Amino acid sequence: MPRITARLLLRPPQVDDLASVFAIYGDPATNQFNPAGPLTRIDQAQTLLTQWMTHWEIHGYGQWTIATRDAPDCVIGFGGVDSRKYAETERLNLGYRFAVTAWGRGYATELSRAAVGFGLDELKLRQIFALVRPAHAASIHVLEKIGMQRVDVLDDVPGQLPSLVYTISR
Ligand SMILES: CC(C)(COP(=O)(O)OP(=O)(O)OC[C@H]1O[C@@H](n2cnc3c(N)ncnc32)[C@H](O)[C@@H]1OP(=O)(O)O)[C@@H](O)C(=O)NCCC(=O)NCCS
Repeated sequence: MPRITARLLLRPPQVDDLASVFAIYGDPATNQFNPAGPLTRIDQAQTLLTQWMTHWEIHGYGQWTIATRDAPDCVIGFGGVDSRKYAETERLNLGYRFAVTAWGRGYATELSRAAVGFGLDELKLRQIFALVRPAHAASIHVLEKIGMQRVDVLDDVPGQLPSLVYTISR
């Protein structure tokens, strides 16, 4: 069941999304702040997509495949709330990754507001977290625009500055 926002169409990921996952997650530009770097092989994209689809099967929510309402067949990104390990602790994490061609139009903010609203108001999640590299000003701005607050740091990248932990609660 797709969800709509003012401009976006959000739907559960499906097997046909593989090429879009690889295109977006394999682009060095969308991984500038990702210490793991871009995906380099299609089987890595398949593993990621399978993880997302399994999360949906188990929990009934997770990462959405994102298109605009104007062009529903053109995937522009992926994002939403799903489980992620923060060191040893499992957290409900807001994440997003958009194709470069979709940047700068407020889509990450629109997706993030929808995802957090859905998680807190409809799923009745108590708390949602987000993890961001300290130099990633655009992503930090998105999190702060939607009302998330910086509460902690996480030393998750050996030899580099810690990531920033943001949260929002019901
Ligand atoms: C980061 C990312 C999600 C932003 O998406 P987007 O749709 O362009 O974001 P939005 O337009 O909703 O908001 C970005 C905000 O940051 C601002 N911004 C952009 N670049 C910036 C920079 N270098 N420094 C400070 N602010 C910046 C924008 O002006 C905008 O703020 P505004 O609405 O007040 O003008 C997108 O670039 C992306 O997908 N990157 C690759 C994946 C990624 O890094 N994901 C986050 C991992 S934590």
